[in-house]
Amino acid sequence: MTEQKPVSETAASKVTLPDAQTVISVKHWTDRLFSFRVARPKSLRFRSGEFVMIGLLGDNGKPLLRAYSIASPAWDEELEFYSIKVPDGPLTSKLQHIQPGDDIILRPKPVGTLVHDALLPGKTLWFLATGTGIAPFASLMREPETYEKYDRVVMMHTCREQAELEYGRQLVEGLKDDPLIGELVEGKLLYYPTTTREPSERMGRITDNLASGKVFEDLGLPKMNQETDRAMVCGSLAFNKDVMAVLESYGLREGANSEPREYVVEKAFVGDGI
Ligand SMILES: Cc1cc2nc3c(=O)[nH]c(=O)nc-3n(C[C@H](O)[C@H](O)[C@H](O)COP(=O)(O)OP(=O)(O)OC[C@H]3O[C@@H](n4cnc5c(N)ncnc54)[C@H](O)[C@@H]3O)c2cc1C
Ligand SMILES: NC(=O)c1ccc[n+]([C@@H]2O[C@H](COP(=O)([O-])OP(=O)(O)OC[C@H]3O[C@@H](n4cnc5c(N)ncnc54)[C@H](OP(=O)(O)O)[C@@H]3O)[C@@H](O)[C@H]2O)c1
Repeated sequence: MTEQKPVSETAASKVTLPDAQTVISVKHWTDRLFSFRVARPKSLRFRSGEFVMIGLLGDNGKPLLRAYSIASPAWDEELEFYSIKVPDGPLTSKLQHIQPGDDIILRPKPVGTLVHDALLPGKTLWFLATGTGIAPFASLMREPETYEKYDRVVMMHTCREQAELEYGRQLVEGLKDDPLIGELVEGKLLYYPTTTREPSERMGRITDNLASGKVFEDLGLPKMNQETDRAMVCGSLAFNKDVMAVLESYGLREGANSEPREYVVEKAFVGDGI
C-alpha cells in the first residue's frame, strides 16, 4: 500500500481557479466521517437544504468534483460540509486530508429538492436520514424558516453505530444555545437518533420505527397523516425507496420544486455502498 500524502503537501492545496475556497476548519468524527468549514463566496446564495459540487484538482490536473449537501444554513457566513471517507474513493481518499489553509473547488450553483418550497404547508415536519444523509438537515435544523413554518420538527437519524450519530447529536444539543435560533427551536425540535448494529438508548431502522408506530408512541405524537405531516428524506437508494413506501402508506405523496406535495427525497450518495 502506498502512503497517501496530506493534501497540503500536494499540488492540489492551492487550486488557483476562480472557484477556489479556503478551508477554515476540519473535524474528524470517526475513521470514516469528518466535517469541515470553508469560506463562503460572497456571490453564493442558496436555500437551506441544497447541494453544490465541490472537489479538488485530480492527478490529471482537472477538477474532480462530487455533489455535497451544504450542512450550514443559508444565513451562515461560512459553508459547512459533512463527509464520508471512502478508502479508495477518487475524491474522499484525498479530501479527508485537507487542513485549514488548503483550497478546495466549490462550484457556486446550488440545487436540490430538500427545500421548504417543495412542500405544501403542514404542522409537523419529519427529517428522515441515514448516515451522511443528515447533512442537508444540519442546514435545515439551523434555518429559522423551518420553525416559522412548522409547529413541530422531528429529526430521525439512523446509523449502524453510536459514534456515527455524534455529529448530529452535538449539532442538536448546541441549537438551544444558538443566539439566532435557540429560542425558535425551544420545544419544537424532537430528536430521535437510533442505531442498528450497536446497542444504544433507541434502536431500529427508521422504516421499522415509522411503520410499527413506535416513534409516534415514544414521542407522544399522533400517527403520521396527509393533512398535517410533511417529510424530507435523505439516505442510501435502498433506504429512500423503503421509506418512501412507508410514507405513501400514511397517505403522503412525493413533491418537487415545481409541484409541492407532502414529502421530498434526495440521494445521500449514488451506489449500493462502499
Ligand atoms: C445529491 C448528493 C448529495 C451528496 N451529499 C453528500 C454529503 O453531504 N456528504 C457526503 O459525504 N457525500 C455526499 N454525496 C456523495 C458524494 O457525492 C461522493 O460520492 C462522496 O464524496 C464520495 O466521493 P468519492 O469520489 O470518494 O467516491 P465515489 O466514487 O463518489 O463513491 C464510491 C462509493 O462510495 C459510496 N459512498 C459515496 N458517498 C457515500 C456516503 N456519503 N455515504 C456512504 N457511502 C458513500 C458509494 O457506494 C459509492 O459508490 C452526495 C451525493 C449526491 C448525489
Ligand atoms: N457504518 C460502518 O461502520 C461501516 C464501516 C465500514 C464500511 N462501511 C460500508 O459503508 C457503506 C455505507 O455504510 P453506512 O453505514 O454509512 O450506510 P448504510 O449501510 O446505508 O447504513 C446506515 C443506516 O441505514 C440503515 N439502513 C440501510 N438500508 C436501509 C433500508 N433499506 N431501510 C431502512 N434503513 C436502512 C442501516 O441499518 P442496518 O444496520 O439495519 O442495515 C444503518 O443503520 C456500506 O457499504 C458499508 O459496508 C460501513
